[in-house]
Amino acid sequence: MARVNRAEGAVALVTGANRGIGLGFVQELFARGAKRVYAGVRDPSTATNQFDGLDVEVIGLDVTDLESVHRASVRCTDVTMLINNAGYFANRRLVLTDDPQAARQEMEVNYFGVLNMTRAFAGILGANGGGAILNVLSVAGAFAAPFMGGYSPSKAAALTLSTITRAELSGQGTDVVALIVGSVDTRMASHVEGRKESPIEIARASLDALNKGETVCDTDFMAVESRARYFRDPARFERQMAKLLNVDVQSTGR
Ligand SMILES: NC(=O)c1ccc[n+]([C@@H]2O[C@H](COP(=O)([O-])OP(=O)(O)OC[C@H]3O[C@@H](n4cnc5c(N)ncnc54)[C@H](OP(=O)(O)O)[C@@H]3O)[C@@H](O)[C@H]2O)c1
Repeated sequence: MARVNRAEGAVALVTGANRGIGLGFVQELFARGAKRVYAGVRDPSTATNQFDGLDVEVIGLDVTDLESVHRASVRCTDVTMLINNAGYFANRRLVLTDDPQAARQEMEVNYFGVLNMTRAFAGILGANGGGAILNVLSVAGAFAAPFMGGYSPSKAAALTLSTITRAELSGQGTDVVALIVGSVDTRMASHVEGRKESPIEIARASLDALNKGETVCDTDFMAVESRARYFRDPARFERQMAKLLNVDVQSTGR
């Protein structure tokens, strides 16, 4: 059977492309023969030498700003693959917090940002043959993660959004892949200890999942491992998480 490579000849738009996993996607898309890659970057002045040697088209794009999203959709009418990667982690408690706005901002970027982009590009993808949407989510959205107060609900909402998007856009042939990401060596996870995958490995696992026709994909070891532990005994897992959180609060005062 011929090996499928959905990235070959694709016109992709990656949000949050200036660093981390987004940059990994840009690099891997070119490695797999993408025709064009739009690198969505909130502040284009941060797009400096990380794109050297890559023929990207940098576009200013803040996924929480409807005007900005609309401008991107007017400019990038040839997109066949939308990669909703931009994300924000405030690293705050949800209830016992000193910053009540943090959870709202996580929801704005991680849920409404994905929704804004999906709405703006659904018609474009349909007109270009269906294409695909890849949503970069998190294990923290697959079960409640008290260590990630407002982030966890925002990623859970985006996971549900992915399923609904798949249903709504199935008629136009748009594939939607929900990427359950564990632990990756980026600025967002700089406070995390232990095993972390490289951004490029996450991009590879994600594009492989699309090629295989998967709808939900655990992209790395930590995602597989922690989801398995959760599903073996959800109540025990929940108790352990709460216990660890309380030990952490006592030791760090956070
Ligand atoms: N690292 C991990 O362990 C891990 C685990 C699970 C899931 N994830 C998910 O992976 C995705 C990428 O994160 P990362 O690890 O690569 O972290 P990162 O290095 O912190 O990158 C986050 C990216 O999102 C962009 N961004 C934030 N708010 C935005 C907005 N309003 N509009 C457009 N872009 C915005 C950032 O742009 P600026 O440079 O302008 O801030 C940056 O490019 C996120 O969705 C994250 O939740 C990461």
